[in-house]
Amino acid sequence: MCPAKVGEFRELPGPQGQSILEDWDRVMAKTLLPSLVVPKRAEGVELEDVDGNKYLQFNSGISVANFGYGSCLQPAVDAISEVYKETGMLMMNGAYYPNVHMLEAANKLLDVTPIRGGRGRFFGCTSGTIGIEVAMKAAAMARDHRNPVAHPEKQVFMHLAKSFHGRSHGASSLMDQGQKGRFHGLSLPYKQCELAFPRQGDEESCGQFYEDLDRSLKLYGPSFILGVFTEIVQGEGGINVIDRGALTTLEEKCNAAGIPLIIDEVQTGFGRCGGDPWAYTLYGIEPDIVVFGKGAGYGVLPVCGMIVSDEFTFQEYGENGGTFGADPVFGAVLNEAISELHEQELAANSREMGDYFLQSLRRACRGMQYVGDIRGLGLLIGVEFCNPGTGAIDPVFSKNVWKACENFGLLTLPSGIAVNRFAPPLCVTRKHIDDAIVVFGKAYAEAVRNYMG
Ligand SMILES: Cc1ncc(COP(=O)(O)O)c(C=O)c1O
Repeated sequence: MCPAKVGEFRELPGPQGQSILEDWDRVMAKTLLPSLVVPKRAEGVELEDVDGNKYLQFNSGISVANFGYGSCLQPAVDAISEVYKETGMLMMNGAYYPNVHMLEAANKLLDVTPIRGGRGRFFGCTSGTIGIEVAMKAAAMARDHRNPVAHPEKQVFMHLAKSFHGRSHGASSLMDQGQKGRFHGLSLPYKQCELAFPRQGDEESCGQFYEDLDRSLKLYGPSFILGVFTEIVQGEGGINVIDRGALTTLEEKCNAAGIPLIIDEVQTGFGRCGGDPWAYTLYGIEPDIVVFGKGAGYGVLPVCGMIVSDEFTFQEYGENGGTFGADPVFGAVLNEAISELHEQELAANSREMGDYFLQSLRRACRGMQYVGDIRGLGLLIGVEFCNPGTGAIDPVFSKNVWKACENFGLLTLPSGIAVNRFAPPLCVTRKHIDDAIVVFGKAYAEAVRNYMG
């Protein structure tokens, strides 16, 4: 069987892919259900699997390869080899050994990160989840310092419905109540409170959010609320864009009550949604803590962390630490990611290509009966599928389209219950988008054919 080009049908997995998947299943602990596409190499937005089939990589390896693959990675690879040549060191415990590479990158990032109360402080780590955990700890410890008599059993973290912040014990306690990967029944040292997610342009969810917020502030009392976490666009929860008015109100109420507003930019940051570098900068707010990851690492290293205001930062040495993160190689890659984002004007490209993609998708989907809402911000876009008879969202059909997209050579991802997510590398062009929409149309038609039996 000949390897398939983008737009041609291929059975998945192919023979090589099948053999690797079988080994994978024997060797690896169960985490996510693995993709049937086993990548071999990639360049820019294009990817080839181990069987030679070609794809458009429109999920950036779950928003990691923001800058694209292959030669797009060269500046970061060069930055790593320069540090190596210059110093003979790449890693050391960056919490313990100060180093100039990290300092340069941290200064650069702090310069472009509006934080309430002035310039923030930088903490580096190697996963978004750790960034979230550390933000929780910083917020809780700041409360302890300010109010040491507070009853621990009455303290509460707030998050929004359908949110995703990672899978550790603490981070998954902030996850939507209904999700499978949530912690199971183990006790937590605090309470949690879930508020409705105020979706842009959706009066009902915004109204519910305002009601939940006021009720919860009264119920728990500001001095027991340790922090409020939100994403700007929910990446895993269905590509829900937050309402501007609701976010501004949340900021005002948090400020008035002395509660830290914590923005999770793990998926939305580094130009993904058109903000430079953060999606929240498009809303004009100033949070107390920002957590980041994914695209910050240029697709070459896990570069994640937290930026925190002076008010909510750790007060004493030893209150926090860690082995990896903030070392010279981490600093060099982050530095390069910030510079390239600016020099290549990738956030602007994300806004321009995001608008083009959204409009083109809306046009192409006219008359597709199973397509409901199409929404997004910058290059984080979702298409929701609904049953044309009942109007109810249709998870089965959505999954069929996602799988059919893979079969025709377009890599997207599911999000929420019935949404297909598009998050191509920020260097994506109109031609890539046009090609992707043609493949999406083929996949949709195939999914309809299969659905009809
Ligand atoms: C919004 C958000 N927060 C946190 C995380 C966790 O990041 P990591 O997988 O790097 O631990 C993710 C991962 O997908 C995410 O999308």
